[in-house]
Amino acid sequence: MRRRRVAYVCLAAQTALALVAPPLLTAPRSVSCNIVTPLRGPAATADELEYGRGTMADLSSIVTLAQAEFGKDYTDPVSKFGLLTLLTVGFWIRLCRDDHSILTCKDASNDLIGYVEVSPQPAGEVSGPFPLPKWAKGLMGPLTPYLANLLVRPDARRRGVGGALVVACEQEAASWGDGVLGLHHDRTDQKLVRFYRKLGFAGDGVPLKHQGFELVYVAKRVRPS
Ligand SMILES: CC(C)(COP(=O)(O)OP(=O)(O)OC[C@H]1O[C@@H](n2cnc3c(N)ncnc32)[C@H](O)[C@@H]1OP(=O)(O)O)[C@@H](O)C(=O)NCCC(=O)NCCS
Repeated sequence: MRRRRVAYVCLAAQTALALVAPPLLTAPRSVSCNIVTPLRGPAATADELEYGRGTMADLSSIVTLAQAEFGKDYTDPVSKFGLLTLLTVGFWIRLCRDDHSILTCKDASNDLIGYVEVSPQPAGEVSGPFPLPKWAKGLMGPLTPYLANLLVRPDARRRGVGGALVVACEQEAASWGDGVLGLHHDRTDQKLVRFYRKLGFAGDGVPLKHQGFELVYVAKRVRPS
């Protein structure tokens, strides 16, 4: 209990620091956060696209994609700025951290089509907007591979890109050793139920109420090939 409390205090401190003093956080590479890349025309099929590891150079396009998806209902400038800050700092930290892998999918023009994150997380916990240091996560329980932040550009959906990104996460998690790749999704969203079931994820745990969503934890065994 005490160790959990320490971990939560770390999360709160890190969150506060990230919000009030982003310049104090050191990034290994220079970052430009405000470039807005307009979404282009239809993407190629999933197999013709390039899958790779995200770098700091991808930060602005990751944030743009996320903002377009999650900021749809934000109308006032303060909320928009808040979301932009949250996404920029959150993904910046993720891209700096060697225990977090952001995997990307790009088209021939190097435009971002989708991305996903895989990282070790305390079993059963929902990952927050700002990742905890690995040692703090370790205080909360055993760490298992966890998939989060999966997003495919709207005009590229239903072509297998989301599925391919999840498979890339499975391969990444398997490279860490024998284990279980898990994730939370909204259990009332039938498209997500179908999507993850089709990919072999299963779980029937007690749903978790989180920020207005009813989340279910699903998982899949991964093994090094
Ligand atoms: C969920 C998401 C990543 C799926 O990406 P995608 O590239 O469209 O997925 P795929 O093309 O690989 O879909 C594979 C299967 O999932 C199911 N599926 C995906 N989207 C669906 C939809 N809108 N309606 C019904 N089934 C759907 C289908 O069974 C589909 O196979 P099919 O096209 O042969 O019928 C994408 O819709 C997305 O980015 N959504 C917004 C963000 C989000 O919800 N992220 C997940 C958080 S847990």
